[in-house]
Amino acid sequence: MMTDDLTSVLFTEEQIAKRVAELGAEITRDYEGKNPVVIGILKGAATFTTDIIRHINTPMQLDFMIVSSYGAGTKSSGTVRIRKDADADIRGRHVIICEDIIDSGITMSNLFEMLKTRKPASLKLCALLSKLARREVEVKIDYCGWEVPDEFLVGYGLDYAEQYRNLPCIGILKPEIYS
Ligand code: IMP
Ligand code: MG
Repeated sequence: MMTDDLTSVLFTEEQIAKRVAELGAEITRDYEGKNPVVIGILKGAATFTTDIIRHINTPMQLDFMIVSSYGAGTKSSGTVRIRKDADADIRGRHVIICEDIIDSGITMSNLFEMLKTRKPASLKLCALLSKLARREVEVKIDYCGWEVPDEFLVGYGLDYAEQYRNLPCIGILKPEIYS
């Protein structure tokens, strides 16, 4: 079983569903009549994004981007590389970025700087998880699922070497798997 590779389950499928519904309800309240563009960041936030939009009970548009901030190593390149851009023209639109987890914050910080140059009416961040202990640059999370400990997490879209994204829960990966 995939769950044998976890030291523990942090959030069960039921807990995730409940929190995602709450965040969706908050977004519904804030974006009524604004027809926001919800942009999921692939691949990690694919699961979260497609789940949360079904709790956004007001007209909206779904989009996706693929971005990376890192080159071959683990050091930040300082700029964001767009590997797949959004289809929507976001100028004058209300934009919500959906991300799985904010770690150093470098990816989202760079992406936000780039997206601001496109002059959206507003730009907000919805992140399911936040590892505050690892933050290198300040990032404002407008809608946050949970603060999490500085552990390597997998499941519900989060991967290790492209595996575990299909786990319905979120758990801490056993260090022996990646060391
Ligand atoms: P950062 O905030 O720029 O450091 O990058 C955040 C990205 O790193 C996320 O979108 C994830 O793809 C990845 N990431 C960070 N922490 C984890 C984790 O615990 N498990 C899996 N992916 C992670
Ligand atoms: Mg990601």
